[in-house]
Amino acid sequence: MAIAVAKPRNVWPSNPLAALWGTMVGKKVVMAVTGIVLVGFVIAHMLGNLKIFLGAQAIDTYAAFLRTMGEPLFPYSVLLWVVRIVLLTCVALHITAAVQLTRMSRAARPHGYDTKESIATTYAARTMRWSAVIVVLFIVYHLLHLTGGVVGWEPGQFRDLSVYHNVVAGFSVWYVSLFYIVAMVSLCLHLDHGVWSLLQTLGWNNARTTSTFRTLSRGVALAVFVGFISVPVAVLAGWVR
Ligand code: HEM
Repeated sequence: MAIAVAKPRNVWPSNPLAALWGTMVGKKVVMAVTGIVLVGFVIAHMLGNLKIFLGAQAIDTYAAFLRTMGEPLFPYSVLLWVVRIVLLTCVALHITAAVQLTRMSRAARPHGYDTKESIATTYAARTMRWSAVIVVLFIVYHLLHLTGGVVGWEPGQFRDLSVYHNVVAGFSVWYVSLFYIVAMVSLCLHLDHGVWSLLQTLGWNNARTTSTFRTLSRGVALAVFVGFISVPVAVLAGWVR
């Protein structure tokens, strides 16, 4: 009688990072770590934008610094490109992990979420996917608008490295400003739940810290929202012109 021998399954691939990536916990850790990098960028970018309130020279000098940082060790713009590549990699990993986690949890729970549980979650948590889609579409538009200067401009209106001029001219168009403000609402909702989730994933959350971390994530989301929208609002109000 032939006995069927089960082939040993390669449960732990030789690369421990690949093994971690194959698990739900691993994907959550990837989301948390890339989330920290992206939140760090968002806060730094928001603070950099506030230089507009110090005048044209302050923000234009800052834009020039972003390109010359690292010189003479790194040639012009090279360090900026390193940062761009790191950010793009984080965005790609963050989205891939999110999509795969959704698939894995759907497969584990084919009947979908319990209705009572969804009522108990916050609005920000329930709209994570929508806010993510809006933020990604916003970033694509934003790069074509204020970095590439290829969308939303009359011929010759966008000036390379003249950030103050570009911001004032760009946000003087009310519907462009409105689009930015709506996108910042989505970013705020995404950060509100995202920062909270990453603190949980990293295991820093417990019964004692729950309310502090709720306040922290809401505080970060609101500070980022107010900091970002202050620029289009100031241009529309004529405070920055
Ligand atoms: C009202 C809100 C915002 C304003 C006024 C703003 C302004 C700007 C400006 C002026 C630049 C060009 C800087 C330069 O050429 O040196 C820029 C670049 C950029 N912004 Fe924003 N930004 C806003 C929101 C955001 C948000 C929410 C994100 C991401 C979530 C973002 C991501 C980027 C990226 C990735 C770049 C390209 C940086 C580079 O590679 O040179 N921005 N932004």
